[in-house]
Amino acid sequence: MAYSDRISYRPLYQKQTYSIWMFPRIFRSIAACLSLIIFIAIPLIHLNKRHIETNSSLFHKSNDNKPFFNSISKNIIVVIDGDQQATSLQPIYCKLSKKAENVYTHVIVTGKNRGMSGTRLIRFNSLLSNCDVSVYDLELRKGISSNENILPLVFQGINHALDQIRPDVVIYINDPENEAMRGVDAALVAASQSNNHITKIAIPIEHTKHLMWLPDLSFESLKNWNTPKINLQIITQNRPESLTRLIKSLNSSIYFGDDVSLTINMDRGADPVTIKFSQTLEWNFGQKHVRHRVIQGGLLTAVVESYYPSDDNDYSIILEDDIELSPFYYIWAKYGVLKYRYGNDRSLSGRMFGISFYNIKINELNMAGRIPFNPALNLRGTKYPNQSPYLSQVPCSWGALYFPEIWREFRTYQNIRLNDVLGLKLQDITVPESRSNRWSRSWKRFFIELAYLRGYVMLYPNYENFISFSTNHFENGEHNRRGKKKEPFQLPLMNESILLDGLPGNRLPNFKDLPTMDLWGKVTPQNELIQRGRNLQLKISTCPPNDFGDLTYDPQDLLCVDEEILRTKMMKESNQSKSKSKTDEVLNTSNGIKMNKQTTKEDNSAENPTIDKISTLDDKVKDSPLGEQIIPFDDKEEDSSLRKQIVPLDDKEKDSSLRDQIIPFDDKKDSSLRDQIIPFDDKKEDSSLREQIIPFDDK
Ligand SMILES: *[C@@H]1O[C@H](CO)[C@@H](O)[C@H](O)[C@H]1NC(C)=O
Ligand SMILES: *[C@@H]1O[C@H](CO)[C@@H](O)[C@H](O)[C@H]1NC(C)=O
Ligand SMILES: *[C@@H]1O[C@H](CO)[C@@H](O)[C@H](O)[C@H]1NC(C)=O
Ligand SMILES: *[C@@H]1O[C@H](CO)[C@@H](O)[C@H](O)[C@H]1NC(C)=O
Repeated sequence: MAYSDRISYRPLYQKQTYSIWMFPRIFRSIAACLSLIIFIAIPLIHLNKRHIETNSSLFHKSNDNKPFFNSISKNIIVVIDGDQQATSLQPIYCKLSKKAENVYTHVIVTGKNRGMSGTRLIRFNSLLSNCDVSVYDLELRKGISSNENILPLVFQGINHALDQIRPDVVIYINDPENEAMRGVDAALVAASQSNNHITKIAIPIEHTKHLMWLPDLSFESLKNWNTPKINLQIITQNRPESLTRLIKSLNSSIYFGDDVSLTINMDRGADPVTIKFSQTLEWNFGQKHVRHRVIQGGLLTAVVESYYPSDDNDYSIILEDDIELSPFYYIWAKYGVLKYRYGNDRSLSGRMFGISFYNIKINELNMAGRIPFNPALNLRGTKYPNQSPYLSQVPCSWGALYFPEIWREFRTYQNIRLNDVLGLKLQDITVPESRSNRWSRSWKRFFIELAYLRGYVMLYPNYENFISFSTNHFENGEHNRRGKKKEPFQLPLMNESILLDGLPGNRLPNFKDLPTMDLWGKVTPQNELIQRGRNLQLKISTCPPNDFGDLTYDPQDLLCVDEEILRTKMMKESNQSKSKSKTDEVLNTSNGIKMNKQTTKEDNSAENPTIDKISTLDDKVKDSPLGEQIIPFDDKEEDSSLRKQIVPLDDKEKDSSLRDQIIPFDDKKDSSLRDQIIPFDDKKEDSSLREQIIPFDDK
């Protein structure tokens, strides 16, 4: 920027090189050491240029607002073919050009015959204040009408530009019908083959108007435009109308040409209409997968199993079928993920576990029962704007995207907790003052424990009038079995693009400027949330908390129990089962797991903790208090419509062995049912199949 008024190139300069590496070595090294030298060197470079030939006559620079031969500069190229593309992309590149951090924006037009020349674009830009970009003209001779042969010409021109400018990011219109744009594609493919990593941001022209947040991203975020993979996981069973409505809303959303895969997870009791619909559904934005469970999983299992991240760029949006989405939901997701996870805030957002679409209006964790919640009121009188998006410890199940690291930690955490709840019950983890402690069949109960213990948070929208990216139609189902009132859960969906206009400052705040709320919606500094979790850990785990600020994404330290208690408990169990050797075996295998304060780190890693071993004990407990333990948690209606969804299949089965697999749902009524489960595995002592049964029991 600083140099720009000192240098004046001729407009439409013909033969030149833009790169310092072409310049005599001695000047190059000086420049590399001392950027000040560049100021001195610039006139010399300028003089030298006329002696250096370039072999492309396709590439003409039309103005010279900025130098870009600085090795530390960051370059973005925007390619424009015709005036329609110019109109669509101009607001974006002009905003990009105002980025502070040494980022230079170069705009390449295809030429007058294609509908937009360099000189005309410069005139256009000058109408806007501060649109500080360099413009180049490929001056293609073929017009819009003759599409053929355009591709190789564009390919050559862009190839040359990539070589000279060395951009990190190229932005253009995704239009496979347009030969010019295919030429850009081809040049980028060629560049990637010679190991130049260039980020391609190719946007369908009709979506460019929803891209005004792009210039707010840091350069690092922009470079990672294609890094996060966002997948959709739908949980459904037998509500085809709901499923259809959800798919319809997904189908009419804006994805910027991203590859977004869709998976429909059908529980065992899926009806023929749902199955048929899932089979025939055409999903145009990525791959479609359909899964159908063999054993009824229930909501907890269906939700939790739907997502296991394959790497740290693998994100899932988890949607029960009675959710409906705003067409802008994906923008909110992508903007948040890129901004907080791939930009300057990456180092700060390690305790963020996801992004909610739902603009929550009710607090469910209040001990006395649900109460209305209005984040704008809670922010009043704080240093934060009333409509600021905020971070909250509450996991959202009514439309949200989850991040991989903490989801993985949650999966491990929940495995261990479920085994304990169904088994020895040595862990006594109660989140103070939270109604979630009474929920049994909710995965959120365990997520809330983890979030509380670690100080984890999720981003929530907070638009005026509760305008939301998702709503919950709250139809009859597992968690709503007697047509509870829908009204408090339904929210107005964002139906016009106020995504930016409705945000304070028209952009997502930086991470450190986001307010943080606890489980009850009270604004609380994040450090205090972390400290609360550490205090609870001291009470419920025999392992001490990690160092403050240490993030392991490994829940083991939260779940340590006292070895003495474990021993006694196991002894008692084994006395009941009269199998001493079993006890030894179990004690041996569970020794060193994570049971005791003295357990060292080496022990932990030497024997990978397999809490599953403990669950084998569970099977020996004939008199399982399992039912009692779990069912009272169900603070929702008593009713059995859930069971109705499951049992009817059974009626038709002639084969009674199948029935045995189903009956355990009723096992709260009859503890002898556990005996019916065991035959299922009775050939193996240490059957991993048993583990498959456990999720069953949590009904
Ligand atoms: C999605 O929308 C397109 C038109 O925009 C339509 O052709 C297609 O059938 C729709 N698919 C579904 C599954 O609704
Ligand atoms: C958008 O939603 C608002 C609030 O729900 C509603 O009043 C308005 O009519 C909707 N507009 C359109 C174009 O659907
Ligand atoms: C288990 O039985 C042995 C004797 O068989 C007894 O000494 C021991 O106290 C019992 N342990 C428990 C925990 O009941
Ligand atoms: C458990 O370990 C002890 C020694 O630590 C050993 O004597 C015993 O045989 C082991 N039991 C089993 C069942 O492996």
